[in-house]
Amino acid sequence: MTGGAGFIGSAVARKLIAETGHSVCVVDKLTYAGNMASLASVSRDARFRFEKADIGDGERMRAIFASFSPDIVMHLAAESHVDRSIDGPAAFIDTNIVGSFVLLQEALRHWRWLAPERRERFRFHHISTDEVFGSLGAEGFFREDTAYQPTSPYSASKAASDHLVRAWHHTYGLPVLVTNCSNNYGPYHFPEKLIPLMIINGLEGKPLPVYGNGANVRDWLYVDDHADALLMVAEQGVPGETYAIGGHNEMANIDVVRSICALLDELRPDAAGPHERLISYVTDRPGHDARYAIDAAKIGRELGWAPKQSFASGLRRTVEWYLANAGWWSASGPASIAASGSARADRRQPEDREHAACRSNRAAGCEDHPAEEIRRSSRLLFGDL
Ligand SMILES: NC(=O)c1ccc[n+]([C@@H]2O[C@H](COP(=O)([O-])OP(=O)(O)OC[C@H]3O[C@@H](n4cnc5c(N)ncnc54)[C@H](O)[C@@H]3O)[C@@H](O)[C@H]2O)c1
Repeated sequence: MTGGAGFIGSAVARKLIAETGHSVCVVDKLTYAGNMASLASVSRDARFRFEKADIGDGERMRAIFASFSPDIVMHLAAESHVDRSIDGPAAFIDTNIVGSFVLLQEALRHWRWLAPERRERFRFHHISTDEVFGSLGAEGFFREDTAYQPTSPYSASKAASDHLVRAWHHTYGLPVLVTNCSNNYGPYHFPEKLIPLMIINGLEGKPLPVYGNGANVRDWLYVDDHADALLMVAEQGVPGETYAIGGHNEMANIDVVRSICALLDELRPDAAGPHERLISYVTDRPGHDARYAIDAAKIGRELGWAPKQSFASGLRRTVEWYLANAGWWSASGPASIAASGSARADRRQPEDREHAACRSNRAAGCEDHPAEEIRRSSRLLFGDL
């Protein structure tokens, strides 16, 4: 599994070790988004192995394929944050497109060398997003056959990787599976993303910044429900097929934030007043997609998957987890990254780091980063979906 130290990958790894007999080799570069603490409960298991490696490093990938000899590749490694892709797209091209290409080539090589019955069983499962489909109006749903219309550097890079994966199936016969899922939330979610950022800021009495008027709609899926769907697809999916995965939980961002406030009021009341007082509206993200919604009928019909958590039950679990696990989000650093511009700048791509100084001087800017662009990128601190 690539990207297994990230939010969704670690949920899949924990599930694989706890609930199945599979052996798991996690391959992860440990970027700012990777966190070994998310794998602490499985890292000592005899069936678990970890390789710190970049999926773009073909030699390392070849060596790992040779020594672990997987039956299934679950490919989750990616740069995944839309706002970061607007500020520094290079890493998205490197990992999501070039890295996926390198991994496909090494998977193909591995698959061709397998004995016939193992070749028959082998699967390359590419985990992707509903953002490749672009933005919906008030009506309609994304389905497996919806035309691609990505709008951000992130979604364009994921769309490119989806195309490569399908091409390796049609051209070389590699048995691939593709899943396109809606927004995930749950425990171990890096605090630059909307839900954990709002929980942590709310706990700390800091502003809860909401893009635009908060009307953008997303379809939310609890991460363990996504992990269940991924295991079903990896083990039972039909090679060459795509499965759309969604939570049947459409919510406007502002309603998500209000729900978090209500849970915090109940579980950790603030003497200063209701948490909704902290909501503040900030300038919208450029090209912010209006609405995503998934029709997940196919995976339900063909594989029998359905989400177990409603948004209310999943959100309560999530808030309770962040309340009980401050050690994960504070000791591992992400909260301080979300809260500090300079810490965040240090974790950006080299071309961004070069301009950390001009970013800190927001009024003036520099030749490469006019003041408006700096103000826009400062919104990175306000989280994303
Ligand atoms: N989070 C969502 O809501 C969501 C929804 C649908 C699909 N997805 C997709 O699921 C996958 C996982 O998402 P996530 O939210 O867990 O992401 P994440 O950012 O939390 O984790 C990504 C992981 O990939 C690793 N990584 C990054 N570049 C790498 C490289 N070059 N080589 C090896 N490892 C590398 C990181 O260290 C990190 O552990 C992504 O492909 C994403 O596009 C995410």
